[in-house]
Amino acid sequence: MTSANSRTADHPIEPLFLERWSPRAFTAEEIPVAALATLLEAARWAPSSYNSQPWRLLYARRGTPHWERFLGLLNEFNQSWAKNAAALIVIVSSTTMVPPGADKPVPAYSHSFDAGAAWAQLALQGARSGWYAHAMVGFDHARAASELNVPDGFRVEAAIAIGRKADPSTLPEKLAARELPSDRSKLSEIALEGGFSK
Ligand SMILES: Cc1cc2nc3c(=O)[nH]c(=O)nc-3n(C[C@H](O)[C@H](O)[C@H](O)COP(=O)(O)O)c2cc1C
Repeated sequence: MTSANSRTADHPIEPLFLERWSPRAFTAEEIPVAALATLLEAARWAPSSYNSQPWRLLYARRGTPHWERFLGLLNEFNQSWAKNAAALIVIVSSTTMVPPGADKPVPAYSHSFDAGAAWAQLALQGARSGWYAHAMVGFDHARAASELNVPDGFRVEAAIAIGRKADPSTLPEKLAARELPSDRSKLSEIALEGGFSK
């Protein structure tokens, strides 16, 4: 199964899974509030353990007073391309939850897993909407917690740049050469019937 880009799946899947990828070349245009809300709404509908919804999406839009504070959290490499994004998100998740019927919070086993599901839904919606998302681990997690007033009990998970795709030639030469949807490991390497073999 092929897609609008160079990717091919070995089994039939929705084309959207191949069409989502993580560009770095962005146009630097601003994102309308409603367009960003559509991406955030897709994240909102992610599944989570006990429907605990541990994710929080802290965001800044280009052209607002929050923008420079968020951009300044990224490492130098990520700033070099994400400066042309339209929105930046820092996704954090609550490390505790109140299970149904309980009255006190307990440690949440799957809060990061759940937040990952929210990111994936946002990114897929982004690809469908023409606002591509690029996740980043390269940022100052401690400074993000303090500068974004993240309460105790939340883990800073990842940053996300969102933007309209630009021509790869707008990137420095080295990055332009890498501006292609990547391939994946073989299904047989990641899906192991019966568990790992001894
Ligand atoms: C949690 C996470 C952290 C990432 N961190 C960075 C990063 O700091 N900088 C970067 O340029 N790309 C980063 N990426 C992008 C990955 O390299 C990219 O998703 C991966 O190579 C697969 O490519 P694709 O998203 O285009 O399919 C990150 C992706 C994820 C999911």
